[in-house]
Amino acid sequence: MTAYRDAMDAPVPELATRAARCAERLRAADDLLLASHIDADGLTSAGIASTALERAGIAHDVVFEKQLDREAVERYAAADYDAVFFTDFGSGQLDVITDYEAFTPVIADHHQPADAAIEFHLNPLLEGLDGGSELSGAGASYCVARALEGDDGDNRDLAALAVVGAVGDMQVVEGELIGANAGIVAEGVEAGVLDASKDLAVFGTQTRPLPKLLAYASDVPIPGITGDRNGALRFLDGLDAELREDGEWKAWADLDTAARRTVVSALVQRAMRTGVGADEIEALIGTTYTLCGEERGSELRDASEFSTLLNATARYDRAAVGLAVCRGERGAPLDAARDLLREHRQTLATGVDVVREVGVERESHVQWFHAGDRLPETVVGIVAGMAMGEDGVEAGVPIIAFAEKDDGGDDEPGVKVSMRGTPRLVERGLDLSTVAAEAAAAVGGDGGGHEVAAGATVPAGRETDFVAAADAAVSEQLGS
Ligand code: C5P
Ligand code: C5P
Ligand code: C5P
Ligand code: ZN
Repeated sequence: MTAYRDAMDAPVPELATRAARCAERLRAADDLLLASHIDADGLTSAGIASTALERAGIAHDVVFEKQLDREAVERYAAADYDAVFFTDFGSGQLDVITDYEAFTPVIADHHQPADAAIEFHLNPLLEGLDGGSELSGAGASYCVARALEGDDGDNRDLAALAVVGAVGDMQVVEGELIGANAGIVAEGVEAGVLDASKDLAVFGTQTRPLPKLLAYASDVPIPGITGDRNGALRFLDGLDAELREDGEWKAWADLDTAARRTVVSALVQRAMRTGVGADEIEALIGTTYTLCGEERGSELRDASEFSTLLNATARYDRAAVGLAVCRGERGAPLDAARDLLREHRQTLATGVDVVREVGVERESHVQWFHAGDRLPETVVGIVAGMAMGEDGVEAGVPIIAFAEKDDGGDDEPGVKVSMRGTPRLVERGLDLSTVAAEAAAAVGGDGGGHEVAAGATVPAGRETDFVAAADAAVSEQLGS
């Protein structure tokens, strides 16, 4: 029943006291609701929390929300819960939550806290840690899970899910997880559930056949390979390495060390020959987080592929499927998740064509497009990010995307806004979370998010005013 012996045993020592207090309150709960954010980080948060609660013998219901608004909090208050455990959200809505006295809130989050104090609140920002890059919602939940440790284990195996959450929230900095996240990685490695090693930093190392892997890798564009399947085929065919098995292309994960070395050094040579910059070439290599307990060739084995699988459930209102996978269920839930992933890929692929068809407008400091009802509001941001650098979309200019909100017809019409920047722009001073908040406020909407990715909801018809306000805000941040 004891929480970890002292702070030095905790995955994040700065948060040990808060974690122990949260854990203690959860143990005392009679009727507990676990409420989490509906994205990859929120799903892994709920997976960690739910598993740890179950191991501790604490019964609970689980609910997911796209956004934690007053209506949701009111619903919880009207039900018979004496405590609600909020994961991956809650801090930003503290002012609303504290309006209700029907339940005790327990919060494990990493978003900017609103101005209100509560007793059971774990958030890296409260202890001077960076909630954008050093700890995710899943990491915050993991801290509480570790404090819930009991006779049947210390929950260190859940570190793997915490890493999936951090990767899903794009917390990787220059190729690796840092700060408190790195401490969690170390616990996972020690527990034998995680491997962290330097490898080719490209999405799809477990599941994509080599030509597709290289042709689709757009983070570091290499002329003659990126976006060019035939070019990638010619490149691979020219290498002296065992890259096929029974005539079929292998996946990266199936290559031995020698073959990997051959491919990487040829890639680097090609990049140098075609004028790719030195720091971009360096970005080809990063830390790969592998979940050792999962089968080779499964999406679940790679943290980045796992998080995309979860997004494919969460962004289409199928969070229960993603949660089941996070809780270790295989078979039907995993099959369902894989079907959703196939559809998600299809949506993303056609999404980039939609951007081309509706056309991107260039302002002085931003570019923008309006997808209307042709893209779901939940993926328009992902598509905007993927479209950067494609035909007709500049790579080094923040992009704003609009999509009609699907309100089931009963709410006031709103428009979803998604914004995406690049790490390079953030280095130069871009903070899209401020841009989203300010520009939304200017047109009577609501927005926020991260420096590199933000979103908002604005009233229909105010899109061009939003663009103008955002253009001005970005201009101020980046200078003219
Ligand atoms: O919900 P919010 O925190 O969860 O969204 C995270 C989103 O931010 C991801 O879906 C991703 O599209 C975006 N992002 C990005 N590039 C980054 C960091 C985040 O596109 N470097
Ligand atoms: O933007 P968010 O974090 O939700 O998306 C996950 C990221 O995974 C995408 O931005 C994209 O770079 C990558 N991805 C991919 N191929 C897919 C799906 C996602 O490269 N089929
Ligand atoms: O939906 P999208 O992926 O574009 O969201 C990017 C980021 O902006 C997420 O972190 C999300 O939580 C945030 N966001 C927000 N307020 C909104 C919409 C999105 O803070 N109204
Ligand atoms: Zn998060």
